[in-house]
Amino acid sequence: MFKSYHKLVSMVTIVALASVSAMATSDVSRTYANGKKVIDGGMTYPVKNGKTSSYYVNTQKAYKNIRFGRVATANEIKAWDMDIMPDGTGLPDGKGSVEEGDEIYEAKCSACHFDFGAGGSGYPALQQGNAYEMQKTLKLQRLHPDDDGPKRNIGSYWPYASTLFWYIKTGMPHPAPMSLTDDEVYALVAYILSINEIQIDGEDLEDEFILSKENFSKIVMPNKDGFIPKIEGKNGLENIRNFYDKPKNFGGNKKRCMKNCFDGKPKVARIQGVGISDYNPPISEKKEKPAKKEVAGIKNVAKDTYESSCAVCHGTDAMGAPVFGDKKAWATVLKKGLDKVYENGIHGINGMPPKGGTLLEDAAFKSVVDYIISQSK
Ligand code: HEC
Ligand code: HEC
Repeated sequence: MFKSYHKLVSMVTIVALASVSAMATSDVSRTYANGKKVIDGGMTYPVKNGKTSSYYVNTQKAYKNIRFGRVATANEIKAWDMDIMPDGTGLPDGKGSVEEGDEIYEAKCSACHFDFGAGGSGYPALQQGNAYEMQKTLKLQRLHPDDDGPKRNIGSYWPYASTLFWYIKTGMPHPAPMSLTDDEVYALVAYILSINEIQIDGEDLEDEFILSKENFSKIVMPNKDGFIPKIEGKNGLENIRNFYDKPKNFGGNKKRCMKNCFDGKPKVARIQGVGISDYNPPISEKKEKPAKKEVAGIKNVAKDTYESSCAVCHGTDAMGAPVFGDKKAWATVLKKGLDKVYENGIHGINGMPPKGGTLLEDAAFKSVVDYIISQSK
């Protein structure tokens, strides 16, 4: 469940990153000076003498009708399309110790996830103390429900450690996904398990503990069986109903409500913290159009409008518009009939924008045209 969701996120990330259109190479097997493999489309800016050197502009196919991103190449899809399953299928060869993980974590992860995975400032915590005692797993939550609900943390919530491997490999560090080697990922998983105080075979994960493809399957996450009520078998449906009948299972304190959830009108909350409550003048509750200028007679309104909205073009022949007061020019215009002239004015024609670029009602626009014509006879 996590997996497919995060996989989607990662695939979206590829497209988004790639859209910045910097690519270093189009050959998946190429390696950089630091020995890392380069995935085409990935952004790698080789640094020379402390400066980021130039990069190739991406010329790959764009999506039709979407002016964002580009089509992922077969190599990219291949590189990102990995499944690492709870039973260990898909785990690459490799190994890494808690201690190595600690060092990599310091260098590449702690800036966002803080020391010891404490999280904060919007970045998720990667541990919340001892996963067995201090973290409320979903399973414990079902046995001893309370209003706060389970903690949705790696130690308390994630049913399988394979998700952790997969997530870090394809998604982290956030700015450079797919940049970690398999050994580095093993080390990071070992480290994150250790800060969650998760044991393997009843043993604490000390600094020298080495996690590898071989012993990975021994990890049993505290919430392994807790993630969902038992949905298989003939009682499956009943189990699910019972689960959702107890709001405390998922951290609610009331019955779930799908309709008529409020007594009376729902309260609309004002945005808090602005600190202004007594406005002067008071906040208007009615929307009104700005007051119209009191002008005597339609003709004066038309004259004002002409001057403010039409004269800029119709005042001279510089714009190719029939000039205000030019009898011959307006006589020519009117040969097509007044209705046609109105229509052209309203919908625009050549250099004449619709309604001269104004938001006048048709009738008001026509009265301005009438005014111009009356002054050009
Ligand atoms: C630039 C900031 C940044 C860096 C550096 C970073 N992460 Fe993250 N990490 C995030 C963000 C943001 C999320 C949440 C992403 C989401 O929910 O879509 C996250 C989520 C995670 C999660 C999932 C947590 C959960 O409960 O859902 C793990 C595990 C993780 N990061 C591990 C790492 C590791 C290991 C490293 C170092 C190799 C690392 N991160 C480096 C920003 C960062
Ligand atoms: C951005 C310049 C511009 C503005 C502003 C503008 N016009 Fe025009 N108008 C033109 C031009 C150019 C033409 C000549 C179009 C053509 O026939 O090639 C024109 C033509 C017209 C015509 C004649 C249409 C026809 O059938 O030939 C009318 C009527 C007219 N404008 C009314 C107005 C009115 C009323 C306003 C103001 C509310 C206005 N215009 C504002 C550029 C402008």
